[in-house]
Amino acid sequence: MTIPIVIAVDGTAASGKGTLAKKLARHFGFHHLDSGSLYRLVALGVMEAHGDPAKEADALAAARSIDPARGDDPAIRAAEVGNIASIVSAIPSVRAALLDFQRSFATRPPGAVIDGRDIGTVVCPNATAKLFVDARPEVRAHRRWLELSQVGAAPEESTILAEIVARDARDRARTVAPLKAALDARLLDTSDLDIDAAFVAALVLVQPSVENALKARQGG
Ligand code: DC
Repeated sequence: MTIPIVIAVDGTAASGKGTLAKKLARHFGFHHLDSGSLYRLVALGVMEAHGDPAKEADALAAARSIDPARGDDPAIRAAEVGNIASIVSAIPSVRAALLDFQRSFATRPPGAVIDGRDIGTVVCPNATAKLFVDARPEVRAHRRWLELSQVGAAPEESTILAEIVARDARDRARTVAPLKAALDARLLDTSDLDIDAAFVAALVLVQPSVENALKARQGG
């Protein structure tokens, strides 16, 4: 059996982890999964069904019927969907319902890069390489504002900052799979790095483990 090669990229909201994960996947020729999109799809499902995101039955029904192939749907990128995703993601049965899909994605050859909040701690504790990406909240709010203003009318930056801070606090405080760095994760602060510099820094941190794993797979 081929030993899976997985790069876990966890981090705070709008830290740049998604962009880094995509670039790492492209660099190594691996598959990429944005696990946040799964929670966002659950949130959208609850919203479309006019359900209550804090109610387990409503959130779980949505979690059981998501289509992960809709992960590119622009509708899930709305700020409100992100906030509701953070609420449904605190429900243990919702997290459990999404676990198999993520773990099976992690075994896809030749390798997988998965970004999220609990990839290195819960989904793939034996990941080949683990990154935890963060940046100062003001920097993250500004990046998110830039992103949103490119696709339409963006809320005030101060509103985005308040949402980011609240979302991180909720993600860190939940009892199941809280947002935190795995003990063996390499920390990357992207506050003062542009995307190219952050990518180079990320590569320096993960490349040795990934190359060792690729060599071991080839038998030497
Ligand atoms: O990364 P994102 O902003 O798309 O994630 C949206 C929400 O989904 C986030 O606030 C918490 C939740 N999430 C999670 O609990 N675990 C993950 N692995 C990914 C996202």
